[in-house]
Amino acid sequence: MLKPLKKAVLPVAGLGTRFLPATKATAKEMLPVVDRPLIQYAVDEARAAGIEQFCFVTGRGKTAIVEHFDVAFELERTLEARGKLLELAQLRAEQLDPGCITTVRQQVPMGLGHAIWCARSFIGDEPFAILLPDDLMQCDVSCTAQLAQAYRETGGNVVAIEQVPMERVNKYGVLDIDQDMGRLVSIKGLVEKPAIEDAPSNLTIIGRYVLMPEVIGHLAKMERGAGGEVQLTDSMAKLIGTQPFHGLRYEGRRFDCGDKLGYLEAQIAFALARPEMAAQVREFLKGYV
Ligand code: G1P
Repeated sequence: MLKPLKKAVLPVAGLGTRFLPATKATAKEMLPVVDRPLIQYAVDEARAAGIEQFCFVTGRGKTAIVEHFDVAFELERTLEARGKLLELAQLRAEQLDPGCITTVRQQVPMGLGHAIWCARSFIGDEPFAILLPDDLMQCDVSCTAQLAQAYRETGGNVVAIEQVPMERVNKYGVLDIDQDMGRLVSIKGLVEKPAIEDAPSNLTIIGRYVLMPEVIGHLAKMERGAGGEVQLTDSMAKLIGTQPFHGLRYEGRRFDCGDKLGYLEAQIAFALARPEMAAQVREFLKGYV
C-alpha cells in the first residue's frame, strides 16, 4: 500500500542576496506578489495537494515567516471591532491548524541537500513534498497536487520539470531521459548544474518534488557536488534504479522569484489574474510600453 502524501518541507534559510537591501532585515520568502508573501503561495499550493504538516527549514532572521502563520490575536480583534469582516475571513481561511508547522534550523549554508537533511526527523519514513518558495507557480491545478497525482500513479519519486533553452541548463538540475512518455518522463540520471556541453538534455527540475524518505540516507553522507554544496540532485540520482523516478511536465507556469526580472513578471502575471484589478493593470501598462 502506497503511503499517503501528507508532509512538505520548505527550505527557507537562503540569504536572498539577490534582493539586497530589501532582504537585509526580512526574509526573501516574505516578499509579496500583489498582496501575499511568496511563502503563502507555496503553503496554499501544498494544502491544495492535501499536505497537512509543514516543516520550514529556517535560518537566522527568518522569524517573520513563522509569525506570518500564527494567529494574530490583536489584529483579529481589531478587524472585528472595525467591522472588517471580509479581511478577517480571508485571514482565517489561510490559517493553518494548530501544530501543523515545525521549524528546524539549518545552521550552516551547505546547500539544498543539507537543508532537506536537516528535516530528517520530521520526514521519518514517509514520502514528502519539497517546495522551493522562490519558484512561484501559476497553475489551474496546484503544481504539488499534480505531483501528488503522479506519485499515486507511479508509486515513487516525481519531480516537476520544464524545458529551457540549452544555454540556460547550467542553472538547474538536468534530466538524463530514459523514456519520454509525454506527460511523464522516466529518468535514468540527474546532473546538477552541468556545463552546457555536458548536459544530457534541456529538461530541467523546477522547485517542486515528491520524494521517498530513502533519499535521506544518501544525503547523510554529505558528499559535496556542484558549487561545493551538498546537492539534493546528487542524492536523488542515487535512488534511480532502486525506486521509480519520473519527471512530470506539469501544467502551468513558473516564475523564478529569486530573480528580479522573474519577480517583476510574477507581479504582473498575478495582478492580471485578479479580476478586481486586471483591467486597471492592463490600462496602466499601456502607458509604459
Ligand atoms: C535548485 C536545485 C536545482 C533546481 C532549481 C529549481 O537550484 O538545486 O536542481 O533546478 O533549484 O529552481 P538553485 O536555484 O537553488 O540553485
